[in-house]
Amino acid sequence: MDPRLNIVEERLKGIKRLIAVSGGKGGIGKSSIASALTLILSKSGFKVGLLDLDFWGPSTHIILGIDDIFPKEEKGIIPPEIYGIKFMSIIYYVGDEPFPLRGVDISNATIELLAITQWGSLDFLIIDMPPGMGDATLDIIRLMKKAEFLIVTTQSKVTLETVKKILRMLKELEISILGIIENMKITDFSSVKDQLKVFAVPFLGEIDFDKNLESSIGNTDKLLKTDFAQNLRKIVLNSPVSLCIRSVNS
Ligand SMILES: Nc1ncnc2c1ncn2[C@@H]1O[C@H](COP(=O)(O)OP(=O)(O)OP(=O)(O)O)[C@@H](O)[C@H]1O
Ligand SMILES: [Mg+2]
Repeated sequence: MDPRLNIVEERLKGIKRLIAVSGGKGGIGKSSIASALTLILSKSGFKVGLLDLDFWGPSTHIILGIDDIFPKEEKGIIPPEIYGIKFMSIIYYVGDEPFPLRGVDISNATIELLAITQWGSLDFLIIDMPPGMGDATLDIIRLMKKAEFLIVTTQSKVTLETVKKILRMLKELEISILGIIENMKITDFSSVKDQLKVFAVPFLGEIDFDKNLESSIGNTDKLLKTDFAQNLRKIVLNSPVSLCIRSVNS
């Protein structure tokens, strides 16, 4: 057995909730939601971390405007802290260079990253996942037994078909699913909620398409004021089906 796996377990011990933000397709707002969710939880007084596991397209550092802080080495790696968030990204290892990896290398890099990162005690660790259900997702399922999936979708038929596959797979594997968020909603007559009802997974809410979101990228104050972030805040803090806050406080 890989001895690093025990270390990973040890490193994650102090984390109450692990939430992997995932979704079938690219460009549907996973990183935006993961970043804003972490900020919102931090502003609400929770101890939070953000882990960017998108090996090919890490982007949470861009969304949050993080560019001049770096992890420290001390019996492992201590994630730098900014806006009250402990931040760790594959970007610290690859920089802005293209970083093509095959399956086994992705697994190794993921195990390595989890084995060396010292999160300490956290209420939430939010993980920004790459698109699809590839190696990184299977690794998270294998390495983070406590992980719960927050699934992002849009009303696009193409996205929905992939999301249905993901939900089916997670259900088959008996992985915990926190809920579904519909992002970039543009018409009122979308039936995403109805279409996904059959999976019996909480539908947490909708976030409208926000044409002002793009201009807030890199500026957290602006980001938190967008309709996008306000929508998300309502989902996270007010939604009766939002498990986030209740179970950490209890
Ligand atoms: N509700 C929204 N309204 C308008 N634009 C949005 C919304 N959500 C996300 N976006 C924009 O869509 C683009 C893609 O978002 P993001 O990078 O978060 O998606 P992603 O699912 O993480 O993509 P990838 O799969 O490539 O990692 C970004 O430019 C972001 O600003
Ligand atoms: Mg992304």
